[in-house]
Amino acid sequence: MDYDVAEETVKQILFKSDAADVLQNVVDYLYKHFDTYSWVGIYLVEGKYLVLGPWNGEQATEHTKIPVGKGVCGSAAQSGKTEVVADVFKDDRYLACFVSTRSEIVVPIKKSGVVVGEIDIDSDVVDVFDKFDVVFLEKIADMLGEHIC
Ligand code: SME
Repeated sequence: MDYDVAEETVKQILFKSDAADVLQNVVDYLYKHFDTYSWVGIYLVEGKYLVLGPWNGEQATEHTKIPVGKGVCGSAAQSGKTEVVADVFKDDRYLACFVSTRSEIVVPIKKSGVVVGEIDIDSDVVDVFDKFDVVFLEKIADMLGEHIC
């Protein structure tokens, strides 16, 4: 998948979707068009927790509510910085969701500089997320930040 094409498509999705569907539509698009994105979800900050919002993948996760500061997701929410875990077996913070997952990326979504959510993507391929995924997903997160009330 070409990242520039994907960015343009996400812009169109944001423009055309109803507010209620926008996060789900973006999640669905990322899941369906990137072969190595095995599970895609968006967590939203509610107080001291991350609460799972829209997601797409073969299985549901039991981690639907994660304290800020816990796991890879909670770390990214606390620091406001993108986390790339090349090998989940080697990261002590990792909270396992699926037995097949080998790498993970978590990108904070900010509104006016405050973390309001995050994009969480698991892959069944080890060390699959590169700088192009980081740049692309940070752009998507910026766009989503503008759309989250
Ligand atoms: N692995 C995450 C938990 C969320 S699941 O990947 C969907 C973590 O360590 O925070």
